Amino acid sequence: MPVEELMWVEKYRPHKIEDVMNQTEVKERLTPLLEKPKEMPHLLFAGPPGSGKTTLAQIVAETLLGDLKNDYTLSLNASDERGIDTVRERVKVFASYSDRREGVPFRLVILDEADEMTRDAQTALRRIMEESSRFTRFILICNYSSSIIEPIQSRCAIFRFQRVDAERVTSYLKKIAKAEGVKVTEKVLEAIYEATGGDMRQAINLLQASSTGDEVTLERVQAVTGATVKARASEIIKLALDGDFNAARIKLVELTRVYGIPETDFLRFANETVVSSGGERMAQAVKIVAEYDYRLLMGASPEIQLTAMLAELAALKDK
Ligand SMILES: Nc1ncnc2c1ncn2[C@@H]1O[C@H](COP(=O)(O)OP(=O)(O)OP(=O)(O)O)[C@@H](O)[C@H]1O
Ligand SMILES: [Mg+2]
Repeated sequence: MPVEELMWVEKYRPHKIEDVMNQTEVKERLTPLLEKPKEMPHLLFAGPPGSGKTTLAQIVAETLLGDLKNDYTLSLNASDERGIDTVRERVKVFASYSDRREGVPFRLVILDEADEMTRDAQTALRRIMEESSRFTRFILICNYSSSIIEPIQSRCAIFRFQRVDAERVTSYLKKIAKAEGVKVTEKVLEAIYEATGGDMRQAINLLQASSTGDEVTLERVQAVTGATVKARASEIIKLALDGDFNAARIKLVELTRVYGIPETDFLRFANETVVSSGGERMAQAVKIVAEYDYRLLMGASPEIQLTAMLAELAALKDK
């Protein structure tokens, strides 16, 4: 079975603009542009993970280029090398070809995760965009438009994507569950939304990961999210023990605010990670975790306390 069939996120990826959930404003502005492709500007898609940016870029390519999509589209994402050399070579060479078949409005370059590109690469890209604009259009995709250099932003029509709301996520999941012949309850759907906060990719993945045979139970969902929370908590503690306080702190905020995991759970996983790390500082680290467990029990502010705990764990490294 091809990967597209195995992964529900691929299997149920929308292929028509009207099947993309939410993003009403984006769709309203994009539709007329697709009707007059010759006048279409470069596009910049910005927004949170799993909100449909890559999906919509693919739909644009399919709509404008049809069967010739593969011949006239160059897609690069973060897993491809995208330093300045690649931009100069691959993108420039592709973008500067002027040959096109009849009916093909332009060549299309899709740069996913464009905010991962260095400034130098972005500067080179800007020049290529200028030079090739007669035959080539760009779709740049990023989480934050502010990480794209101003001269590129000003050459693009910017589309801002939003997290998908609870109702749309649940109705989409219901549709998938039905098609796959698995039973879900409202409670299960709620729990999945709670755990994934409007990230459609994560929501679909969680549904798939939690379905055993022909049903999805609440216990399964909790077990699966518990496992991922545990992995994330353990990553944070490892970063702290490696002395990287800042990275650990940022991930902690993400975990508690975005995923809303209880602090006491975090401490439990922290303790397990510290013990299994088995390093020389294990005993000291365990004491630190215990001390903060106590402080939280006494009602101190969790975020401040857990941040301070990471600072203390990180400081062990230099002792
Ligand atoms: N608005 C949406 N409507 C329907 N399905 C969606 C939507 N957004 C995402 N999905 C589902 O989630 C999967 C991932 O979406 P997509 O790759 O478009 O996200 P993205 O916005 O590019 O995220 P990232 O920033 O992480 O790359 C799709 O295959 C699709 O199944
Ligand atoms: Mg994407």
